[in-house]
Amino acid sequence: MTAKIIDGKAIGAQLRADLKAEYESIKAKHPNFQPGLIVVIVGENPASKVYVNMKHKACQEIGYHSEIRRLPAESTQDEVAQLLRDLNADNRVHGILLQLPLPDHLDEQPLLELIDPRKDVDGFHPVNAGKLALGMPALAPCTPVGCQELLKYENIDPSGKFVVIVGRSNIVGKPMAMILCQKAKWANATVCIAHSRTKDLPALCRQADILIAAIGSPKFVQAEWIKPGATVIDVGTNRVEDASREKGYYLCGDVDFDAAKEVAGAITPSPGGVGPMTIACLMKNTLQAAKAIEGV
Ligand code: GUN
Repeated sequence: MTAKIIDGKAIGAQLRADLKAEYESIKAKHPNFQPGLIVVIVGENPASKVYVNMKHKACQEIGYHSEIRRLPAESTQDEVAQLLRDLNADNRVHGILLQLPLPDHLDEQPLLELIDPRKDVDGFHPVNAGKLALGMPALAPCTPVGCQELLKYENIDPSGKFVVIVGRSNIVGKPMAMILCQKAKWANATVCIAHSRTKDLPALCRQADILIAAIGSPKFVQAEWIKPGATVIDVGTNRVEDASREKGYYLCGDVDFDAAKEVAGAITPSPGGVGPMTIACLMKNTLQAAKAIEGV
């Protein structure tokens, strides 16, 4: 049996439409209310440039104030820090996103810690990571929130299920585990984080009711690793060089999709699965931050 293909593009569009409706209903009562998101990009990473433009466009469609601040690749730690401090102090700004990865000479963690936690729409500040781990209301990272939203929209309740997350990054793997093991609706899962030192990864994955691949390695997860009927969420978006393509590369996920869809019960494609949800959830976090800051 072929798996249900989870259409992240359509679900992301629905979520953005819902947010636009919510923003408009708030604006009817508070005409001056306008969420503002500033995306900071340092250097010329081609994939980052594409993502940043997509974030800007999504803001414009909803009607948020949005700016991209582009800094040269050779910017110093102090120059980036000063921009973040200025944005913290700017009343029009409710969300600040420092696009990663940064050029090698910059130290990422101290910069992320400079962002006002109330404006930390990426949910990467230790205050927000800590709150999430404690089950307190927090701005949570957009990609794992997007994965949970996909499960919600597809009515796949993780409660009581065995979830295996392959990948332990601070951006996806760890916060994903924190979200799904919470005592809350659309959570309550039994969660396992697997990584490069995990023994017999295929056997572990085969136990998963919900398998989440976030390794950043093209087609790493094989069809034989999937329990028949399981839900597979593919977080990966990998560029694979291919001279025969117009762009010189193609995009694929962390799962061998063509084979996996013959085993899974439901599966996200990549591109077109988790990616659009990350952007939609950034819009959700920006509205959440603006509402909290403005007290509406
Ligand atoms: N680079 C890849 N994913 C992300 C993300 O979710 N946020 C930021 N800031 N940078 C990224």
